[in-house]
Amino acid sequence: MITVIGAGKVGSAAAFDILRYKISDVVLIDANENLAKGEALDMMQAAPAIEFDGTIRGTSDYREMHDSELVIITAGIGRRPDTTRLDLMKTNAQIIRSIVKEVVKYAPESKIMVVTNPVDVMTYVAAQETGFRRCCLFGMGNILDSMRFRTYIANELNVSREDTRALVIGEHGDSMVPLVEYASVSGIPITNLLTNEQIEKIVHLTVSSGADVIKLKGSTVYAPGTVIAITADAILTGRNRVMSVSTCLNGEYGFSDVSIGVPVVIGKEGVEKIIELELSNQTRERFGKSVAALKEALAALSS
Ligand code: NAI
Repeated sequence: MITVIGAGKVGSAAAFDILRYKISDVVLIDANENLAKGEALDMMQAAPAIEFDGTIRGTSDYREMHDSELVIITAGIGRRPDTTRLDLMKTNAQIIRSIVKEVVKYAPESKIMVVTNPVDVMTYVAAQETGFRRCCLFGMGNILDSMRFRTYIANELNVSREDTRALVIGEHGDSMVPLVEYASVSGIPITNLLTNEQIEKIVHLTVSSGADVIKLKGSTVYAPGTVIAITADAILTGRNRVMSVSTCLNGEYGFSDVSIGVPVVIGKEGVEKIIELELSNQTRERFGKSVAALKEALAALSS
């Protein structure tokens, strides 16, 4: 069973995709009980059409998460015009701390996927609070960035998006690092197919992609929802997919005491393995800056 905490836009989209892809039964938990119940009821009424015979329950009772294999946390507040980034981070950190205490109590054997932003900072906070083994707790951010990178590569070349392969590492935010040197179309490096100007444009679009959607409609919903479901599938089915997730580094890539996006193998045990890639000098420098940005945020959070 999967528990999704936060029945807002992203949590409910993720829950519905988990049902639609028949990945698992879902418990949807939100502080707003009516919202959780209403979303669950709405989804259940679609079940015959999507041929889903399992269960979807909405509640505000954390005890309902017992026996979950995976707990996905999307609860939090969004940014309002009068809140600073730091205020937002502090409020969401408090929400994350209170939620993971419940996870430790009721689903101590589960894996935790943190989605709430700023996701790398929230993953670190959740790791500190739970003491969960590193494999069992990670943040989802770069998987979405990687999908966006793939989308823009395919659009530029007018080829199938399915044939693109690409990863983004680093912060899920402005300092993210699209790995140009490892991006390909059916194994052909994109550097053989695109000019430097085209690649620069794609990298820029990838970095601004989330903000571009938020500027137009206020929040991102479908892409994160689907990506959360795909990641959940990798864990429940043990597919050992290679994806970038936010994980606490312990010397890998030369850094420690920070949670940041790096390529990993995602399977039954959660983060099964961290893949340490050779990085070009330029990429290594960008990754170092991304680590510095996150360490600064963590320092601000504890100040
Ligand atoms: P939303 O405002 O629609 O939903 C948030 C939900 O959390 C609300 O229903 C609220 O009642 C609930 N909530 C707040 N505090 C709670 C608590 N203590 N316990 C239980 N429920 C609680 O927000 P939306 O659009 O769904 O976004 C959720 C989070 O996901 C945000 O932090 C957003 O920035 C983040 N996000 C992360 C992405 C990623 O790639 N990591 C992508 C998109 C969004």
